[in-house]
Amino acid sequence: MFLIPFCFFACLINTYGQDPYHLALRPQIHFSPRTGWMNDPNGLVYFRDEYHLFFQYYPDSTVWGPMHWGHAVSKDLMHWKQEPIALYPDSLGYIFSGSAVADERNTSGFGKNGNIPLVAIFTHHDPAGEKMVTSKFQNQSLAFSLDAGINWTKYAGNPVLKSPGLKDFRDPKVAWYPDQNKWIMTLAAGDRIQFYSSTDLKTWVKESEFGAGLVKPGRVWECPDLIAFDVDGKKVWLLIVSINPGGPQTGSGTQYFTGNFDGHSFTSFDTISRWIDFGPDDYAGVTFNNTGKEKIFMGWMSNWLYATNVPALQWRSAMTLPRKLSIKNIGGVYYTMMEPVDDLDKLVTKSNSYKHIPTVKEIHFNGPARFELSLSDLYSFSLVFSNASGQQVTAGYDEEKNSFFIDRSKAGRSNFNAQFAGIHYAQRIDQSNNSKIIMILDNTSLEMFADGGLTTMTELFFPEQPYNILQQGTSRKPIEDIRISELSSIWLNKK
Ligand code: FRU
Repeated sequence: MFLIPFCFFACLINTYGQDPYHLALRPQIHFSPRTGWMNDPNGLVYFRDEYHLFFQYYPDSTVWGPMHWGHAVSKDLMHWKQEPIALYPDSLGYIFSGSAVADERNTSGFGKNGNIPLVAIFTHHDPAGEKMVTSKFQNQSLAFSLDAGINWTKYAGNPVLKSPGLKDFRDPKVAWYPDQNKWIMTLAAGDRIQFYSSTDLKTWVKESEFGAGLVKPGRVWECPDLIAFDVDGKKVWLLIVSINPGGPQTGSGTQYFTGNFDGHSFTSFDTISRWIDFGPDDYAGVTFNNTGKEKIFMGWMSNWLYATNVPALQWRSAMTLPRKLSIKNIGGVYYTMMEPVDDLDKLVTKSNSYKHIPTVKEIHFNGPARFELSLSDLYSFSLVFSNASGQQVTAGYDEEKNSFFIDRSKAGRSNFNAQFAGIHYAQRIDQSNNSKIIMILDNTSLEMFADGGLTTMTELFFPEQPYNILQQGTSRKPIEDIRISELSSIWLNKK
């Protein structure tokens, strides 16, 4: 109900010319589309000195609809320029999630005059076929660009990989496998992952499957990614899979497995489901292709449980911050770690350190902001971020539960979904006494990276006005050291 007057008000302001990048709910340091609906990041690739972010996009509404690939580029992973729509739905269907590769060897033959083609590998989802219950309505297709992602040509031989009759058969992530000079496609096939190989991106051969029996009935895996890391001299493969429902809190979430991959099959070290992010609002995340040893992860900052119902103005949803992704061996188990990319530092406008702040003290800041805590002995503590309307979000660590937490039960509007308001816990993985914690607050989100990102949590909320007051909540001892850095908007010069 509140949406009607709110939307009316916001649209009115915009009619009178307010720049949409500074409307109340717009995240100021996270990518969001200028207008329209957005979900998964797609085709993440570094190419000719630019990061490309394609995304599931429906330009005509703020709810999900016939999917396009939107497009944005960035030189520093922070400031984004939205480009024209890259891929429109066509007679084969909507353009669902997928990936993009720089075909440097021109294996596809799409390159002309030595121009390296950027090739998108995506799922064509045929809504007519879906209605007829054919079970063959998701097929993999190609498109290529010879001008760094601005103009695209769909391949005349689409689709290149037809559904074998599986209802869920989508989200190809393709990467070059140098040891065997071939491409590997990692694909979500309902309750399992399938691997295919190709030497030209056009003809695909099934190699193997992973995960049969690991997914509970009624759930599906989506948006997989397979990447290799060098961990203390050992090659470790990471398989990322998003699951819906069945996430770490409620609704959707992203889990991972570590193991070996030999160009044919993936064998996991164990079958324990681990979460890349323990909060409710990091979904469908994958890594950028072509970034060498540095792996950069980005997710969609929402949850299918309420994604289409959260308060929105002329656009809906944002991406998580781009994050450096690494792997750490703790007692023989490999865990993911994520922290914001270093380019975030460039947004810092003002930075102050505080020592042993008393509970009563209010520290005022102008969001968005980064909070860096250093605790030589981790103990129960919380930080309370609040606004003049009395709304607040609290984040910290609970000794008894040995868990980090974010509490958004009093964070603002939540009547769009009964399960939205609440407190979410993430079991601590690290066992050391000391702890370094980074929290990044934007208008409608908090991302917490604890213990170097071993435990990461991402949460959305919708306060009436941005949080700009920090206080220490229940804490066993005053926090020893906290640095607060205000961050400049990435949309400063945008209209
Ligand atoms: C994940 C997902 C993908 C699909 C896309 C459709 O959020 O369901 O599996 O390709 O969204 O928009």
